[in-house]
Amino acid sequence: MHLARAVELAARGPAHGPNPRVGCVIVAADGTMLGEGWHRGAGTPHAEPAALADARERGHDVAGATAYVTLEPCSHTGRTGPCTDALAAAGIASVRFAVEDPNPQAAGGGEVLRGRGIDARHAAYAPAAALNRRWLGAVEQGRPWVIVKWAQTLDGRTAAQDGTSFWITGEEARAHAHGVRAEVDAILVGTGTVVVDDPSLSARPPHIEDPHQPLRAVLGLRDTFGAKVWRDDNAIAIRSHDPHEALAALAAREVRTVVVEGGGTVTTAFLRAGLVDEVHAYIAPAILGAGTSAVGDLGIGTMGGALRGRDVTATALGVDTLVTAFFQRGPQ
Ligand SMILES: NC(=O)c1ccc[n+]([C@@H]2O[C@H](COP(=O)([O-])OP(=O)(O)OC[C@H]3O[C@@H](n4cnc5c(N)ncnc54)[C@H](OP(=O)(O)O)[C@@H]3O)[C@@H](O)[C@H]2O)c1
Repeated sequence: MHLARAVELAARGPAHGPNPRVGCVIVAADGTMLGEGWHRGAGTPHAEPAALADARERGHDVAGATAYVTLEPCSHTGRTGPCTDALAAAGIASVRFAVEDPNPQAAGGGEVLRGRGIDARHAAYAPAAALNRRWLGAVEQGRPWVIVKWAQTLDGRTAAQDGTSFWITGEEARAHAHGVRAEVDAILVGTGTVVVDDPSLSARPPHIEDPHQPLRAVLGLRDTFGAKVWRDDNAIAIRSHDPHEALAALAAREVRTVVVEGGGTVTTAFLRAGLVDEVHAYIAPAILGAGTSAVGDLGIGTMGGALRGRDVTATALGVDTLVTAFFQRGPQ
């Protein structure tokens, strides 16, 4: 119950940024809630110090209490001090954390706490891992989490023969895609898409006045300066054809999650390299016959070789349907 509340709190934090979403509830031995906190993004207090501060503001003494945290408390000094220190200094007697921290720099907090006489234990709680699935996957794989997104016709076309792709899907599907952009750290497209479509690659979800704007990345050797993506310095050119190099360049900018938005050449390169964690296919009830395919040759010659997604969802968005699926391993 307390961990469920901690997950609710964690979900208030931003999905983008280098840090995970974390929530913390401090509870007295008699079950009274003493303080709650969540992490609001890089550079702000972690969930545990935020919950301790909340308890202080409410006039509660947390000595002897239990802290329920969605992620193992950190034991390192990053942008803020170690949470293990803050919990120990406050006299917390027990800690239950839902997910072990896979980040080598921050891991081991449970052991540090136990070394200080605190009853710290891992209490696995799947919703906590699900909330940070992309962040956990990025840390475990040592590279940004890759979502590949495209809009297609019923017959799998992402552009007509003349190169036009505006608009395959309707307003609701496009608004949804803008919402996803606001949750990630970067959007990547190939130079071909920049030349043909000149997209702005901004996040414009309805009902969010000032959404987070992801970094815009363009993969390819051609010079596309003058295009809309270069309107400010929140954009990078990655002069390569290698998806691994692209992810390394993004990781150097603290990118944990990237949406690859095409075109087909770049999407195919990421799939061929085995670097796709999640696919978002927006499917319109339209048929083109000729045109560009969503994905090109992957070197798969037989049905048994098909890449199969899991944890599939299908969501109706007006007349269109969004199908999402996870690929590769990623955390369960
Ligand atoms: N429906 C959709 O969701 C959607 C989304 C995006 C685009 N589109 C459509 O897709 C079409 C553009 O497709 P596209 O495949 O040409 O675009 P692309 O994948 O955006 O760009 C391809 C270009 O990127 C560079 N590149 C980067 N990595 C590469 C690699 N590993 N291998 C080869 N080249 C690489 C190459 O150019 P350099 O010579 O510069 O290196 C290549 O010509 C347009 O008609 C657009 O409207 C549709």
